[in-house]
Amino acid sequence: LENGLMQAPPMGWLAWERFRCNTDCETDPDNCISEKLFVDMIDRLADDGWKELGYVYVNIDDCWMAKKRDATGKLIPDPKRFPRGIKALADYAHSRGLKLGIYGDMGNYTCGGYPGTTLDRIEQDALTFAEWGVDMLKLDGCYSSEDEQAQGYPKMAMALNATGRPIAYSCSWPAYQGGLPPKVNYTLLANICNLWRNYGDIQDSWRSVLNIVDWFSANQDVLQPVAGPGHWNDPDMLIIGNFGLSDEQSRSQMALWTVLAAPLFMSTDLRTLSRSSREILQNRLMIKINQDPLGIQGRRVLREKSQIEVFLRPLSHSASALVFLSRRTDMPYRYTTSLSKLNFSTSAMYEAQDVYSGGIISGLKAGENFTVIVNPSGVVMWYLYPTMYLDQPLDF
Ligand code: DGJ
Repeated sequence: LENGLMQAPPMGWLAWERFRCNTDCETDPDNCISEKLFVDMIDRLADDGWKELGYVYVNIDDCWMAKKRDATGKLIPDPKRFPRGIKALADYAHSRGLKLGIYGDMGNYTCGGYPGTTLDRIEQDALTFAEWGVDMLKLDGCYSSEDEQAQGYPKMAMALNATGRPIAYSCSWPAYQGGLPPKVNYTLLANICNLWRNYGDIQDSWRSVLNIVDWFSANQDVLQPVAGPGHWNDPDMLIIGNFGLSDEQSRSQMALWTVLAAPLFMSTDLRTLSRSSREILQNRLMIKINQDPLGIQGRRVLREKSQIEVFLRPLSHSASALVFLSRRTDMPYRYTTSLSKLNFSTSAMYEAQDVYSGGIISGLKAGENFTVIVNPSGVVMWYLYPTMYLDQPLDF
């Protein structure tokens, strides 16, 4: 969507995977979907070095609403859980240099059973979100027909645009259509949405991460070309910092999402995040790669019998990101390959920086073998760039 927003994949925090539809503020006041949770996360993003790295969206998901619209038909937040309303929360986010995202559903109800945005409510809800000063809308797709979705998603794009407020637009539409053509029209999506969910919800497990990576890789011929500045595929939230991933697997999710040019929405408790999770999520070179201005999505380029998979993302300045993923379950694997096997030009010399260890590997010639040691369910990730061109006239 060419609204000037999200020229690089968006970064921030999203409530859903970690905090779900917990509305029981009586027994669980710190973790229920309430003003307090979002104020806490805004404070963490602003105070703990996240915002400076680009994590600027604080996004509400399902279950923020009152069970009924007000007398004028306007959406309202649950008055007990959001006593000061959404505008106050948006103002607070803005005062701390952050942006606020909200959630709605194209249909009769949200997936959690709260009021949906039916076709006749689209303009009203877009105006409400704009009036509150919201910066992003995730529009889910429960409880609607294919026909309503086909009308509603483009209509919301128009309605958001008509408010005059820049509001980034995340569409769950393709996820409700199986994610693939001919049902899904990615040209249309890229025109009307800044990002879109293609596939099922992430859960707090390594198996879920692999399932998503496999689906995106199996369908990369369709999905890879449609991503770019202003319009991104969204493989769903980062679950780093929760309960289902080891440190090794957490490094893998971060690396894989980065080669996929994916939005980086953390869904974790930033108040209690471990040091190792923080280091993974705040890796500067990683974020620089994720945010590369060319905005080219990477691909899985190799699947070895050894259960090593290689992913490659082209970056600006002729650089590349390379990820070596091990799906093995035995022990660290010594994977030997060469850059020419990965289709790099033999007329250059290369240098790589290991994105996690920071180590520099220099003097790489495309034709020469090198070995990386990849831990089970882990990755080695390289930021690779040519340092010298061989056998070429000096007129480039
Ligand atoms: C389905 C979406 O895919 C999830 O990300 C989340 O928004 C839930 N609905 C909320 O009910």
